[in-house]
Amino acid sequence: MYELIKKDGLAKRGRLHTVHGVIETPVFMNVGTAAAIKGAVSTEDLQGIKTQVELSNTYHLHVRPGDEVIKKLGGLHKFMVWDKPILTDSGGFQVFSLAGLRKIKEEGVYFNSHIDGKKIFMGPEESMQIQSNLGSTIAMAFDECPSSVADREYMENSVARTTRWLERCKKEMNRLNSLEDTINQHQLLFGINQGGVYEDIRVQHAKDIAKLDLDGYAIGGLAVGETHEEMYRILDAVVPHLPENKPTYLMGVGTPANILEAVDRGVDFFDCVYPSRNGRHGHVYTNQGKLNLFNAKYELDMSPIEEGCQCPACRHYSRAYIRHLLKAKEMLGMRLCVLHNLYFYNTMMEEIRAAIEAGNYKEYKEAKLAGMNAGKK
Ligand code: GUN
Ligand code: ZN
Repeated sequence: MYELIKKDGLAKRGRLHTVHGVIETPVFMNVGTAAAIKGAVSTEDLQGIKTQVELSNTYHLHVRPGDEVIKKLGGLHKFMVWDKPILTDSGGFQVFSLAGLRKIKEEGVYFNSHIDGKKIFMGPEESMQIQSNLGSTIAMAFDECPSSVADREYMENSVARTTRWLERCKKEMNRLNSLEDTINQHQLLFGINQGGVYEDIRVQHAKDIAKLDLDGYAIGGLAVGETHEEMYRILDAVVPHLPENKPTYLMGVGTPANILEAVDRGVDFFDCVYPSRNGRHGHVYTNQGKLNLFNAKYELDMSPIEEGCQCPACRHYSRAYIRHLLKAKEMLGMRLCVLHNLYFYNTMMEEIRAAIEAGNYKEYKEAKLAGMNAGKK
């Protein structure tokens, strides 16, 4: 059940009640594709960096270790030792970005595993069955994420198929949730809006899927090569046609600036690999912009990554020490940078929620952006 607590302009401050606890929104979900946050971050670490939701992938867990193995072990929560909410992506997007040769048919997608080349078929029913075996809190609908340069005709056909797939997902999810041996009988289902950069296709699709009364609505197929301005234009057009009294999730986005702009347009769920991926490369976020800790100017710098930051890295360690760890390829270097970055994102979301509640979101956004941009000069 989703509660819309407060609006400030279009920005939504919400609360999603789930069987695994409450999600305060706007929220940034921390990406752990294969049931782990890359960078040697444990689920215990997540407790100390304000993580609310962990995100894993249907496709990856299906090929390894296998969703049936995870079901036998009691489900993904028990497997990872994480009792808070988990969102699983449907496999659609990963099949398109990772798998080799693939064929899209009405029934689903035929493709080869990126691990061993094995032939796999995944359609809406298979994706729901896998996510049900994992027992995640929120399952995502099985969609096609078409290339950002697909022509109109391709896009129209693809989006129509994604709608038919969504109807099948809903039916299958209802069936699975009613079975006695299902791990999470209260599994939620979010639908996904597609349509590339064609505003009219996006808006029609949003209206069509809004009728299905799902637990939440995502916007997919963005941040795949279009400009930031194009992405904001699509959000301006689409978000008003998605139910306001349901979660609104922008998939795979993005930079702190992208998140601040999307919140201002009514989005309240996010996920992105940037904080963990950048952290593994020694790139760390601060309120004065991003730093590259490999830079020689930090060799003798005994200050923390960010003064006043309460993350596990900044409470104890200096830029100089972390730079040394990174250069010596010590795993601890990556780990501290990833922990700091996730803490930075999760803390920004906390500030965003407070600003919406206080009714000064626009001022907060402008000040935050100005600080981060000042560091670029
Ligand atoms: N992650 C980022 N974009 C997408 C998308 O369009 N579809 C799915 N399923 N996952 C995504
Ligand atoms: Zn820190």
